[in-house]
Amino acid sequence: MYDGEALERLRGEFSGVYKRPSEFAVRAPGRVDLMGSHTDYNEGYVMTMAIDRETVVFAASTPRETVRVRSIHMDEDVEFSIADRADPRSVVDSCASTWARYVAAVFAAVHESGVFPSGADLLIDTDVPIGGGLSSSAALECAVLQVILQLTRTEMDGRDQARLCRRAENEYVGVQCGILDQFSSVMARKGSVIVLDSRDLSFDTVSVPDGLAFVVCDTNAPRELGSSEYATRRMECEEAAALLGERMNGVRTLRDVSPTALEEHLPALPEPVQRRTRFIVEENARVGALARAFERSDLTAVRSLFLESFTGARELFEIVVPAMEAMHDAMLRAPGCIGARQAGAGFGGCMIAAVETPAREAFVRSVVSGYRAETGNEARAYLVNAVAGASLITGVLR
Ligand code: GLA
Repeated sequence: MYDGEALERLRGEFSGVYKRPSEFAVRAPGRVDLMGSHTDYNEGYVMTMAIDRETVVFAASTPRETVRVRSIHMDEDVEFSIADRADPRSVVDSCASTWARYVAAVFAAVHESGVFPSGADLLIDTDVPIGGGLSSSAALECAVLQVILQLTRTEMDGRDQARLCRRAENEYVGVQCGILDQFSSVMARKGSVIVLDSRDLSFDTVSVPDGLAFVVCDTNAPRELGSSEYATRRMECEEAAALLGERMNGVRTLRDVSPTALEEHLPALPEPVQRRTRFIVEENARVGALARAFERSDLTAVRSLFLESFTGARELFEIVVPAMEAMHDAMLRAPGCIGARQAGAGFGGCMIAAVETPAREAFVRSVVSGYRAETGNEARAYLVNAVAGASLITGVLR
């Protein structure tokens, strides 16, 4: 989170870089999922919250048909043209650096929708850990879309914003993510945990039991296999849905398979598709079960659901790497821990624990030292709170 002082500093940097004042600033948060790994692209449920780690952008319009971007975080300047209105892809193709392609992709997706903003000067900074499974990409995309909405004085429904940013990532960056990250970054509610229905993007807010807090710990394990394995999991889930659709009426995606129907039809599936299917169907059911456990303040159920999710992720969906196992052990041993599981896509990156609030600091100290003793790696820990989705920054700036 950027406080007033940090934002003033960034505003000063904007003036220093572009020799003119910024006109406005926007923000968009990262997210962490509490239950529902890989259910979003199966049109299932996910429990998610936006976290107090965010991307901020200071901006000013220009009459030129170019976008200049200074990333403080990456310490890099990039410029791309938005002149070719007929070919949105050309906007992205002219960007060499990966992070800038996310920025350009949002301009391209906006062009594709028939809206043509002016050029702009942007200064970007973020405190969302990059590539750690907390949706640094979505935070960047959703913040850039906020800038474009300001530049063009356009109102856009939040779900449409999420869809546009997802399209930007799928079609123009080439990452086949689901809707979870962008939805969370745009639609999140301050102080609330959300249960998202990925099929129609409806959602409910869920209250978290008093005295329960969430801590995210980054394994710092490289996620090299992440994107190819993610694509494989998606294909396996699609194959499962197609095979089950031949045997059962009304099955379009794995979301349509109930835990009871699963037992009857699962043996017909080949491996590893069988294991993947069991995980998704059970994980989907765990989202509702966790919401009910929160409502009853049933911490024993919370603990079992987190454990079942992690065990399924390891044995059935196979997205757990050794560093995540070590982190899980360190988390479960730490004081105040109610439960711990993977966050995001898995294959390294961050894990999340539900922790008794008064024990948060002791929990962090214990996890960091336990994980170091086991792996020799340094973990970073974040005490996270639920914040609101992407917005214009008002009030704090003079
Ligand atoms: C990544 C994707 C999301 C979702 C998660 C796994 O974060 O971007 O769409 O599929 O993995 O739940």
